[in-house]
Amino acid sequence: MSDRILEVRDLTKSYGAIMASRRLCLDIDRGEVHALIGPNGAGKTTAINQLSGDILPDSGSIVFDGVEISRMPPHRRARLGLARSFQITSIFDDLTVEENLALAIIAHAGHNFRFWRNCLKTPLVQRELPAALERVDLDRQAGTIARSLSHGEKRQLEVGMALTGRPKLLLLDEPMAGMGPGGTVEMAKLIGRLRGEITILLVEHDMDAVFALADRITVLVYGECVACGTVAEIRHHPTVRAAYLGED
Ligand SMILES: Nc1ncnc2c1ncn2[C@@H]1O[C@H](COP(=O)(O)OP(=O)(O)OP(=O)(O)O)[C@@H](O)[C@H]1O
Ligand SMILES: [Mg+2]
Repeated sequence: MSDRILEVRDLTKSYGAIMASRRLCLDIDRGEVHALIGPNGAGKTTAINQLSGDILPDSGSIVFDGVEISRMPPHRRARLGLARSFQITSIFDDLTVEENLALAIIAHAGHNFRFWRNCLKTPLVQRELPAALERVDLDRQAGTIARSLSHGEKRQLEVGMALTGRPKLLLLDEPMAGMGPGGTVEMAKLIGRLRGEITILLVEHDMDAVFALADRITVLVYGECVACGTVAEIRHHPTVRAAYLGED
């Protein structure tokens, strides 16, 4: 088994005159938290969308766990172990936290939803639910209707639902956006706990969070990778300082 879980080569995607991905290359090692940073409009979300399969590249290749996936539909990528937290699952507002997680467990196991009213009683759910709740620190909110969760807790639940499929790689596009300081801390803790268990590609603007959580960082500018390295390397990289962090 290779140490590389993802290899992106020369990924290119244009919108008219805008090159949102410009011969983008990206390598992600198994088990790392890899941050993807860059100014607004640099092409981070476009890159994530091409990895998940929500949009197709004009050209280039994406090899995930040894398989070329760049033309594969999203559900097949998901089956290979590629999860995107805010797309595969979305929360059912009128159901409780545990019901949401139970549905995700059943869906990922390939069962159908005909018996969803009894889903909490199925042996599979009974086996997996406690760990699923605990993983995202929502044990105490198990019976809470999702609608009344805080914004931060909703995002934890979404991540928890994506994790029930036991993905090999989790794509997170700005998981802390729109959260208060408390929510940001909780999400950072969650990502910290997942480190080592699962590989994460994290798009995030909060540089304190990125520097605290990432093993390695790739920097995009105008759709192109301008630097890739450890936190220390990126902090001191002259091109990065000029293009993104500001010279001071
Ligand atoms: N569907 C689209 N049609 C036209 N242009 C698009 C489309 N999606 C993205 N773009 C353009 O592609 C470029 C990259 O956008 P993208 O959303 O990937 O950037 P980003 O790095 O995620 O930015 P942000 O930090 O603001 O989220 C931008 O110039 C954007 O305007
Ligand atoms: Mg974006």
